[in-house]
This record gives sequence, C-alpha cells and structure tokens, in this order.
Amino acid sequence: MRPIVAGIALAMTASILSAREMPPLAQKNNCAVCHAIDHRVVGPSWMEVSKKYKDAKAYMYSVNGSASPDAKEFPLVEGLMHKISHGGHGNWGEAPMIANDPNETNQGEIRQLVEYILGLARQPMKPAGSRPSN
Ligand code: HEC
Repeated sequence: MRPIVAGIALAMTASILSAREMPPLAQKNNCAVCHAIDHRVVGPSWMEVSKKYKDAKAYMYSVNGSASPDAKEFPLVEGLMHKISHGGHGNWGEAPMIANDPNETNQGEIRQLVEYILGLARQPMKPAGSRPSN
C-alpha cells in the first residue's frame, strides 16, 4: 500500500470509529464523515458548536463566514440550516463545509439535525461515575 493510500485508510477508520457516537440521521446524511460530538474532525465538534450558539437568537450567513460584509441575518435555526445546506467557511477556520442540501430537498432532516446539535449544550453529558438523578 502506498503511504498516501494508507493515510486515507487510516483517516477513514478514524471517522468510522468516531461516527459511532453520532445519531443515525447524522450518519445517513454523511455529517459523521467530518463531525463528531466531542472532538474536532474536519469540522468543529458539535458540542463546541452547541455551546457557541447556546444563547444566540440569530445567525449571520455568508459563504465566507458570519463576519463577512455580505452576511445576511436569519433566525438561529434557519441560519444554521442555511449554512449546512449551502456550505461555507470562516466561522471555525478556513476548511469549508460542503453544501449538504444545495437544492433544499431535505430540509426536514437538516432541521432535525440543527435541533439535535443545539440541544447538546442544554443537556450536558453526565460526568462518568455520576448517579442517575431519578
Ligand atoms: C466535508 C466535511 C463536512 C461535512 C460532510 C459536514 N460538515 Fe458541518 N462543517 C464542516 C466544517 C469544515 C465546518 C466549519 C465551517 C466554518 O468554519 O465556517 C462545519 C460547520 C458546521 C456547523 C457550524 C456552522 C457555523 O457556521 O458555526 C454545523 C452546525 C454543522 N457543520 C453541521 C453539519 C451537519 C448537520 C452536517 C450533515 C448534514 C454537516 N455539518 C456535514 C465540515 C463538514
């Protein structure tokens, strides 16, 4: 196996392993190739994303990032749906997210994924060893 092929195989194994923690809808939509719940893959961890927007009501969308002069304001959920659907870079680094639903034929599932991600910081995982609250 040439080194580059071995490298790709290793990267794929890593994303399959981290994909285990992701919900089935995230696997079905290939989000898990680039994201995990609690660590950065190609994109930011979904827990970090959830914390960033915890108290936000609005989201500025531009393909070049929220600080770009051409960014447009959306309500938070719609804005994140727009970003995921049409892609872009600049909010977490220079690596771009691909357009995951460019023709907007899958907005129901994209909305469910946004609501799932935003919910993560609102119900933090219990520390290991803690007792169930009920
Ligand atoms: C090709 C890799 C890739 C795929 C596939 C991908 N993402 Fe991303 N995602 C990224 C990168 C890179 C960023 C950071 C973009 C930036 O810096 O603005 C990101 C950012 C995000 C953000 C934060 C947006 C922001 O502006 O703060 C959310 C939410 C998100 N992704 C959800 C998803 C969902 C849901 C899916 C599946 C439908 C998905 N991603 C698929 C790479 C990917």
